[in-house]
Amino acid sequence: MREGVPLAELTTLRVGGPATLLAECASTETLVEAVRALDDAGVPTLLVAGGSNLLVCDAGFDGVAVRIANDGVQIDGTRVLVQAGAVWDDVVAKTVAAGFGGLECLSGIPGSAGATPVQNVGAYGVEIAALLRRVQLLDRTSGDVSWAGPERLGLGYRTSVLKHRDDALVLAAEFELHSDGLSEPLRYRELAAALGAGEGERRPAAQVREAVLGLRGSKAMVLDAADHDTWSAGSFFTNPVIAPDRVAGVLAAIAQRLGDVPVPRYPADQGVKLSAGWLIERAGFGKGYPGADAPARLSTKHTLALTNRGAATAADLVALARSVRDGVQTAFGVRLEPEPVLVGHAL
Ligand code: EPU
Repeated sequence: MREGVPLAELTTLRVGGPATLLAECASTETLVEAVRALDDAGVPTLLVAGGSNLLVCDAGFDGVAVRIANDGVQIDGTRVLVQAGAVWDDVVAKTVAAGFGGLECLSGIPGSAGATPVQNVGAYGVEIAALLRRVQLLDRTSGDVSWAGPERLGLGYRTSVLKHRDDALVLAAEFELHSDGLSEPLRYRELAAALGAGEGERRPAAQVREAVLGLRGSKAMVLDAADHDTWSAGSFFTNPVIAPDRVAGVLAAIAQRLGDVPVPRYPADQGVKLSAGWLIERAGFGKGYPGADAPARLSTKHTLALTNRGAATAADLVALARSVRDGVQTAFGVRLEPEPVLVGHAL
């Protein structure tokens, strides 16, 4: 246990005050034991893995931060079994290097493997839900460890039954891979175009991984300590899904402000999904907003990433998030919801 470790050191946004204590758990056994003991004693606990989806307040966390650092990766037949603390992109790289397809579109996503089922991580037309076979969970109410199949996880767009609750902790996850070494069918137009492929085609996983890393890099969505544009939590807002009865009103608000422009939109389960990045930009928050001197600003390459330019506080980032959210609400009547978990403050 270490005392007073700044949580900023453990998150990709690099803000956040200290935790009273930090417990580093390098194996599944120590992780389970530590969490069970803290829960039995009623100690407030903050679970931290890759830190890519956390915005911790400047006052820090009055309790014990438990770092999920079990990071085993085992390929067995066409399945890969990964412990929760494994670095996600290392998992993708290993499976691709071993000649398996399936995870390549999820290359370059920051964070840990155990976090991927929690918000059904997705990018470039593929979601974890397509490949996930089961997750190992610690039930923090009973202390029991068990496996659950995807049908029990309620996986949806950037969500699952595991999101926004603390009573179940992912210990490991297992994914089914393609033994032919080919990618998932290419469903994302921009990616297919970068590969000179038609939508729905499959390509060697290694080629697709390179193309995805290239696209993400061009949007500053690949972590690089030397580049402040990547000091972010990835997309800060989810893409809003507009209920069918509200679509006409929102499109009218957009047309009133912008005239007759094509609006990027995608069919979704409960309505129409709009692009948060597009709405932010069109509401007047361009790339790099509010300007070069601001400690917290939008990425200069993508409006959806809120970035710390080196000296930002959590309060700076929250203030920026509020002005963007409120500006989009005023302009188009659409409320954006944050994707990261906020610790110690609300938007
Ligand atoms: N756009 C702008 N300005 C910008 C950025 C984008 O107008 O600064 C417009 C683009 O022109 C395009 C639309 O917004 O019309 C969509 O942009 P993009 O293709 O970059 O995708 P996105 O919807 O912003 C989503 C995910 C990303 C994922 C990419 C690729 C969410 C919230 N974001 O971004 O996921 O990598 O698609 O699949 O679902 C993440 O969740 O952290 C994340 C990075």
